[in-house]
Amino acid sequence: MVFIKLEQLVNAMAGDRPFCRNLRKYYDLSISKKKTYLEDAAGTYLFNGLPEKVANILKNGFFLGLHAEDIKDWDVVSRYFQENSRIIPALRANPGTYTMLEQMYHFKKVSGVVDNYFLKSIAGGQALKCRYEIINKKMKEHVDVILKGQKECFILDIGSGPGRNCVDVCRENPHWNGSVKIECIDIDEEAIFLGEKLVRQHGIKQIVFVKETMTRLRKRYPKNVDYALLIGILCSLTYSEKVKLLKRIRHYFKPGGKLVAAALTVEMARKDLLCSYILRELCGWGLQYPDFGELKKAFEDAGWKYGGFFQEEPTKLYEIVIGIA
Ligand SMILES: C[S@@+](CC[C@H](N)C(=O)[O-])C[C@H]1O[C@@H](n2cnc3c(N)ncnc32)[C@H](O)[C@@H]1O
Repeated sequence: MVFIKLEQLVNAMAGDRPFCRNLRKYYDLSISKKKTYLEDAAGTYLFNGLPEKVANILKNGFFLGLHAEDIKDWDVVSRYFQENSRIIPALRANPGTYTMLEQMYHFKKVSGVVDNYFLKSIAGGQALKCRYEIINKKMKEHVDVILKGQKECFILDIGSGPGRNCVDVCRENPHWNGSVKIECIDIDEEAIFLGEKLVRQHGIKQIVFVKETMTRLRKRYPKNVDYALLIGILCSLTYSEKVKLLKRIRHYFKPGGKLVAAALTVEMARKDLLCSYILRELCGWGLQYPDFGELKKAFEDAGWKYGGFFQEEPTKLYEIVIGIA
């Protein structure tokens, strides 16, 4: 077995990821049950827009629950998606990229059948936009509570991308100016470049970007963090990898400090099997689909206290846990 360091794993967010047992159950559903996924608004839109040959190969593979390498003429599908999408090539190159989110959060326009399909899908544009909105709302509430008990609040956005959540929440809460300090941590230079541009554009003073890997920051954060986000990071990690990462970053927090982390659940496969199939077979993205409650357990096994959970509404694909250090 190849030993992969935690930071490499988080960086890659995919690659040679195990095929999740829960997803297997959905791959093995009967064809009649699978048909329903092709008949929702996003599925209908996609299959009406694809060339017939591409549609037939994809549909057949999906119905039979086959992996890309076992499907005859799959290269026709693969090439079509690669050449007619901006999202697919970006995810193939780096499944952990923030760039898909820019489109799913509606900051960047999408064009073409494939990318509009993602935008319409439950797992894509719907759940991700709702997740983004609920994180902003809860962050405001949580930080306002912290600021009732102390004058200043030190916040991290761990794996921030361009820091969309923090940028938006700071814009909407100018009263935080002077009392809140935020560090957005990411390894992607492009994400940081965009984030710094947004911060300048909106005249936000309290956010800075830190180009570091999230797993090696104990010296920088010697138990001085009050609140943090960990969003869009855990979804392709297995249970033990989640525990390892949560354990590692717990050292950054003050006792009582809070971490809000989101992870996908099996509900994504149940509610949007077509998107799950496309992401796995066309992007090679090894997302994990654990039962609801796994993230709570991972937090507890990593030494956090459980501070409750919330979900993005109305899609409810994610378990979003509040951990208390
Ligand atoms: C899917 S994006 C999520 C962005 C943001 N949190 C959001 O939800 O909108 C994941 C981000 O994590 C960053 N990332 C991946 N591995 C990392 C690591 N080891 N340290 C810091 N950032 C990392 C990627 O560069 C990417 O920008």
